[in-house]
Amino acid sequence: MYCTRKITDDIYWIGGNDRRLARFENIFPIPRGVSYNSYVILDEKTVLLDTVDYSVSRQFIENLEHTLGGRGLDYIVVNHMEPDHCAVIGDILLRYPGAKLIGNAKTFNMIGQFYEDMSYEKVLVAEGDTLSTGKHTLRFVMAPMVHWPETMVTFDETEGILFSADAFGTFGALDGVIFADEVDFDRDWLDDARRYYTNIVGKYGVQVQALLKKVAPLDIKMLAPLHGPVWRKDLDYILDKYNKWSTYEPEDKGVMIAYASMYGNTENMANALACMLAEDGIKNIRVYDVSGTDVSTLIAEAFRVSHIVLASPTYNGGMYPIMESFINDMKALNIQNRTIALMDNGTWAATASRKMAEGLAALKNITILDKTFSVKSTVLKTQIEELKTFKDGIIASMK
Ligand code: FEO
Repeated sequence: MYCTRKITDDIYWIGGNDRRLARFENIFPIPRGVSYNSYVILDEKTVLLDTVDYSVSRQFIENLEHTLGGRGLDYIVVNHMEPDHCAVIGDILLRYPGAKLIGNAKTFNMIGQFYEDMSYEKVLVAEGDTLSTGKHTLRFVMAPMVHWPETMVTFDETEGILFSADAFGTFGALDGVIFADEVDFDRDWLDDARRYYTNIVGKYGVQVQALLKKVAPLDIKMLAPLHGPVWRKDLDYILDKYNKWSTYEPEDKGVMIAYASMYGNTENMANALACMLAEDGIKNIRVYDVSGTDVSTLIAEAFRVSHIVLASPTYNGGMYPIMESFINDMKALNIQNRTIALMDNGTWAATASRKMAEGLAALKNITILDKTFSVKSTVLKTQIEELKTFKDGIIASMK
């Protein structure tokens, strides 16, 4: 049975949802699943914009055949060659051998890499090129590194729809809805949208900014990404989030305390700090055990908040390995413009704060507070004043 949604009078969503996949890219947990979006334009010519992951190919092909209603397929626009969107191109060409593939020079290089023996007719496009399909005019805008080098976005000038590839996408399967205004996005989707952006595209803030500036003059009425809902209202809401995330500006003034703890003593130190901060009126405090929290969630939170406290036991003369992994991910994903405070624990030689500071040194525009807090085994009553001073330093840095 087909399962499609109408976007406009002659544009349809024909993608699919995967609720079986445990980890997107085999890394990121997706307990709410994920959608792979694909769109069809029914004009004098018929156009398919991207395909889907192979996991949902059966549904997708049924959706495509139903939507075309016996018509042929003239074009396939390949905005992005990552296999979650290009996996079904070969199958579609077997069914619609006359379809021409539209892509840029890098797209066709990658098609050659993924599909060694596939024969097809190509339409090579470059920045700003347009294609008329009858009533619709499509403009192709290059979006390198949002998220791969070949990525481009397609602007339907007739309808004002930006088919935005991975940009503005999110984890989460679509439960029958297709528009962001059909859900409570801020309550139910924003965390997954942030986790998707920061972990998948977070490294490429400069390139995302370049794309946002390039499309700013366009009269965009809808954003149609390759994952998650389509935006037709409140576009400024998601554009503002993207602007903050891609410039590495915090969304919220708040404190994330990420601790590693083997026996609960460093956890106690983290909780005691959280209580003191809350007692002094600090809002928006979140405490995370790095051992029990997927690093993709830690990264998303590090993008969200202004202040980060890292608390680690000393382990093999360094920091706790899972904390080291979190710091390495912060480096890889280009976290910037944050204030960080460090706490450590060491029964005989506490070195974790120094090691964490060394690990964080490569991050841009990071302020590491001078005052660290260190315990030997557990927080003693004699250290309460010192912990308060540490807390005061964090609060002072938030003003
Ligand atoms: Fe959803 Fe970069 O692929």
